[in-house]
Amino acid sequence: MDAGPERCRTCAVVGNSGNLKGSHYGALIDSSDVIIRMNKAPTSGYEQDVGSRTTHHIMYPESAIDLDNTTSLVLFPFKTLDLQWLPGAITNGSHITFSRTRLRAKIKANKDLVRVLNPVFMKYVHEVWLDYYGKYPSTGFMALILALHICDEVNVYGFGKDGNGNWHHYWETLTNKKLKTGNHPGDYEYNVTRKLSEIHKLEIYKGW
Ligand code: C5P
Repeated sequence: MDAGPERCRTCAVVGNSGNLKGSHYGALIDSSDVIIRMNKAPTSGYEQDVGSRTTHHIMYPESAIDLDNTTSLVLFPFKTLDLQWLPGAITNGSHITFSRTRLRAKIKANKDLVRVLNPVFMKYVHEVWLDYYGKYPSTGFMALILALHICDEVNVYGFGKDGNGNWHHYWETLTNKKLKTGNHPGDYEYNVTRKLSEIHKLEIYKGW
């Protein structure tokens, strides 16, 4: 593909929904310029449905995983402790090892590719895009809004609850049958996403 400012930059935002299972979206996702995954999202063993490339991996300390050397770690800070955890975690080990849950003191990530989202972005998304519904926006919805700001074409994969209204994951069987969409306004977020697709600001790949 041609480089340069004229080129259309395609972005795949890959949420963690179980609707990716059996979707065969892997090749399509991998053909994007920017591939954004988040939290615990594994690719190994799921390539056919979710792809294998990740250009940006969004996380916060509680959801941190090891990354390969070419993937950019994007920290979405939810609290001050998240910012304090990061420098140690990607170098010699953080002294911060507990927050809401146990934290990994150290993760593998290329420290030259680390980015940190301005914390005000969460407030902006909650206020402007969700009209303050729910406690705070989900990681996936923030990723999607971020993509709208930085990409020319946004394709959305792996968003959508299961038949019982729970946010299930493609790599595991849900144990908490009362999960729903956690602290997040999942249905409101999905409606906004659908409206954005109706006016062709993004495309939703529904999965199965
Ligand atoms: O569960 P987790 O927060 O790691 O999932 C990442 C994001 O994917 C969520 O924040 C949510 O926006 C989206 N998701 C979804 N439907 C699911 C699971 C996750 O829309 N079943």
